[in-house]
Amino acid sequence: MKLELKGKALRGNLRVPSDKSISHRAIMLGSLNRGEVVVRNFLRSEDCLNTLKAFVELGVDISDNGDEILIKGKGKYSLKEPFNVIDLGNSGTSIRLISGILAGQPFYSVLTGDQYLRRRPMDRIAIPLREMGALIYGRESGKFPPLTILGRRPLNGINYKSPKASAQVKSAVLLAGLYTDEPVSVTEPAKSRDHTERMLSAFGVDVKIDGLTVSLGENRELSADLEIDVPADISSAAFFMVGAAITPNSEVTLRDVILNPTRTGILDVMKRMGVNLRIENVRQIGGEEVGDITVSYSPELKATVIEGEEIPRLIDELPVLALLATQAEGETVIKDAAELRVKESDRVKSTVENLKAIGALAEELPDGMVIRGKCKLKGGKVSSYGDHRIAMTFAIASLIAEEAVEIDDTECVATSYPGFFDDLRNLLE
Ligand code: S3P
Repeated sequence: MKLELKGKALRGNLRVPSDKSISHRAIMLGSLNRGEVVVRNFLRSEDCLNTLKAFVELGVDISDNGDEILIKGKGKYSLKEPFNVIDLGNSGTSIRLISGILAGQPFYSVLTGDQYLRRRPMDRIAIPLREMGALIYGRESGKFPPLTILGRRPLNGINYKSPKASAQVKSAVLLAGLYTDEPVSVTEPAKSRDHTERMLSAFGVDVKIDGLTVSLGENRELSADLEIDVPADISSAAFFMVGAAITPNSEVTLRDVILNPTRTGILDVMKRMGVNLRIENVRQIGGEEVGDITVSYSPELKATVIEGEEIPRLIDELPVLALLATQAEGETVIKDAAELRVKESDRVKSTVENLKAIGALAEELPDGMVIRGKCKLKGGKVSSYGDHRIAMTFAIASLIAEEAVEIDDTECVATSYPGFFDDLRNLLE
């Protein structure tokens, strides 16, 4: 796709698609629940639809009337052995969280995905789940999908010190922990997104939080009739927030955006860099704080350092924040983000290579990158590397590039944001 948008501004307001992390969890926990769950504003993107399909294959009664999703759950012991290999497409969250659930099922299942997912490391979940008693096999001595899981019931308890601040690892262990009465806890080096803990509590499971440790208490049954209304995804809003900040004459309001503090690192960084940003109409939707975020053109941006405990709070927004950094005064440094290298693409490489290809100055670090500010972007050919967030980041770059930005494969945006290019066009003025 060739985008030549220089001279246009982004103006208007938009409710970006719903949160991907919460949509996945609504299906997963709704499937383990005994009771009826209605999911409103479910994200119908490829990743979340793959999760939905997986639970249908595991025998759960899920229907989609086009508006709401209805899950008639029969409890955590009701899943059935799947008749076929379960294909989770591009979705890391699906394969890792579902592995946690399947670890506690006394049957055989095989999980696979697309060529990108089959290159993503699974030992991070396989190690604790094996310690809990599940048998998990995969390519290259168990590290990569396809994964074969032979679950066990009951599993062993675990007090897991996770080497990474990863919500996927934490969630996989907590979900497996539903299948044991022994003590289960996960301690992280920094706090990752907490949607699993919040939603388990909403379903009635005893969850205790003590600093960086989450543990399961006595009640591990999910039993509630719930309505889950999924707020807008801050990771999708990020593209238009950055677009408005870097493009003259722009002002965009993003409505109903999730403001859970484990997700709002991007807002802290944007404020620090001097972005004109305001948050209004703060309220609760589906147990999460949400608000309307307005961002306008911000000509006086300053470079910053993004590191340490802030990283898990904005991990998925780093490619688009790197684009923002090209317009700031000074050199922005991103470190402690080695995890970026094992996302849907190696996002250190894909971001830096593409920034260079359109005329920015950026360099890779083993665990991050350095971006030179006040760069005039020229435009040119970039690759999405099959990664939705890279495709969307460089579509936004075209707003300020002198010439066209040509992105090779943009179909991957359907992973999280199928209507992205329509929404972009509708905001152009
Ligand atoms: C997610 C957790 C994060 C994030 C991913 C979604 C989740 O991954 O990057 O897009 O929904 O739990 P890690 O757990 O690997 O950090």
